[in-house]
Amino acid sequence: MLVLFYLILFNFFVIFVKQFMERFTTKDLEELPSRQRAHLINSISGYKSANLIATRSEDGVPNLAIFSSVVHLGSNPALLGFVMRPIGVERHTYDNIKSTLHYTINAITKEMYRDAHHTAAKYKEHESEFTMTSLEESYKDGFQAPYVKQSPIQIGCRWVNEYPIEENGCILIVGAVESIYVVPELLHSDHWAQLDRMDIMTIVGLDGYALPNLEDRLEYAKPNQSQNSILNGSQKD
Ligand SMILES: Cc1cc2nc3c(=O)[nH]c(=O)nc-3n(C[C@H](O)[C@H](O)[C@H](O)COP(=O)(O)O)c2cc1C
Repeated sequence: MLVLFYLILFNFFVIFVKQFMERFTTKDLEELPSRQRAHLINSISGYKSANLIATRSEDGVPNLAIFSSVVHLGSNPALLGFVMRPIGVERHTYDNIKSTLHYTINAITKEMYRDAHHTAAKYKEHESEFTMTSLEESYKDGFQAPYVKQSPIQIGCRWVNEYPIEENGCILIVGAVESIYVVPELLHSDHWAQLDRMDIMTIVGLDGYALPNLEDRLEYAKPNQSQNSILNGSQKD
């Protein structure tokens, strides 16, 4: 009888713990040490894209840096954006893009992530992260910025515009896609890229690297219609 009582009590405890959620108000966030606030805010919005942005200075020095803010802005015309931190300090990627207008975006795989993370280190302007890591430059079809040879998705972009984020001094850079190189194995017949086929990673916060597994692909959502899988065959209409 006593065992049953404790069992019920334990179950209530488990239910309570599962429902408990920690709350952080604006004031709590302001009072958190800056490192903890950054970890929390950087990770709670979800998994982020993992890319290396490669550029070349006017003097010919290649530069490589990791970015987790690359985002699709639209497909017609094909536009990709990314967020640049405030430019009060040396920002080689930004300087090179502004002076040459060209840069490449390269997906990060499981084999590349340690080197990719290392590109966040603050090297001098004349030092190239390509030399400091095993990541290799590759120049293609006359494009002036280097691609990352090991990357299964390499995108050549041209700067078209930028928008200041007045609240924090960051800048949203908008780039037009000029070339896409992709390993054919990634593409389904409808050109949808299955990123997990080549272990393309995702970023959590500023230091977590994860490998997602595709669960399913669903057909275009329509009212009052159940969601069918299209993973093994693309949608008819
Ligand atoms: C996981 C990770 C993600 C990052 N994402 C961004 C980003 O989206 N925007 C940004 O400005 N810096 C980002 N950084 C910081 C840059 O990689 C870092 O400032 C780098 O030194 C910039 O190099 P550069 O001066 O050669 O351009 C990130 C760093 C890490 C480790």
